[in-house]
Amino acid sequence: MKRVTKAVFPAAGMGTRFLPATKANPKEMLPIVDKPLIQYAAEEAIAAGITDLIFIIGRSKRAIADHFDKAYELEIELEAKGKFEALQELRDMLPSSVNCIYIRQAEALGLGHAVLCAKPAVNDEPFAVILADDLIDAQPGVVRQMCDQFDYYQCSLVGVQPVDPKDTGSYGIVASEPLSERLNRITRIVEKPKPEDAPSNLGVVGRYVLTPRIFDHLRRIERGAGGELQLTDAIQSLLKEQQVLAYEYTGTRYDCGSKAGYLKATVEYAMKHPEVAEEFSRYITERFCARPA
Ligand code: G1P
Repeated sequence: MKRVTKAVFPAAGMGTRFLPATKANPKEMLPIVDKPLIQYAAEEAIAAGITDLIFIIGRSKRAIADHFDKAYELEIELEAKGKFEALQELRDMLPSSVNCIYIRQAEALGLGHAVLCAKPAVNDEPFAVILADDLIDAQPGVVRQMCDQFDYYQCSLVGVQPVDPKDTGSYGIVASEPLSERLNRITRIVEKPKPEDAPSNLGVVGRYVLTPRIFDHLRRIERGAGGELQLTDAIQSLLKEQQVLAYEYTGTRYDCGSKAGYLKATVEYAMKHPEVAEEFSRYITERFCARPA
């Protein structure tokens, strides 16, 4: 039986929906309260038992590698000032059993190309793909939920959720047959179809578990939606030889690649952050919920 121990984090996109904040900073480094999106994604992978974190980074994404690196000067400074809690938090960011691998994607040719760049580090193993700008609040995390399904079915899985039919043009959309309560067998998957062409309203979110066969298909696909090499097209091609399942996860997703989604996530996470929850909730109540006398 194969187990998933590797996760790929494509982070080479331009973040155009978030300019100018993402001009010099990767969108994956935008914080929700006090933690960057990429760290939430890494923590979700680690909680699923994943030990190899493979980051696909582009130009101006060096901050991601710096973020997970040891920060000697900062640690010395925190120690000297007696800020031991912050120091411990930094040191505990990644367990010592976890390896970080960084691969540069020279050109932003699309998600499919980014995943193909991970092949030298993934080799012949099943692996997860996590898009950090899809932040999903779930217990257990969605990668754990999907790895549990992989342990049983030993086939590729795509995380899905019902989307508003008018929004199909923003997602990979699947046609499928029911298999069990949360699982559907995918019969077709298309990238960003117009509402009138969409085979359903079941949209792909940024969580995948893939068998290494996907690399053969990624090598063969041509440019698709938006002129990019699409992971969705490689999955459609993989379907001809292997089963791929759509998994309806439990949890709440925030599209942090959009300004509104990012702001919603910030409010929700602030409302339960141990340090600021009380003050922030009071502020929200007084400012927006207080009844006129
Ligand atoms: C990517 C995928 C798409 C998926 C989406 C989820 O699109 O190509 O299939 O539905 O992520 O967030 P992007 O949002 O990067 O354009």
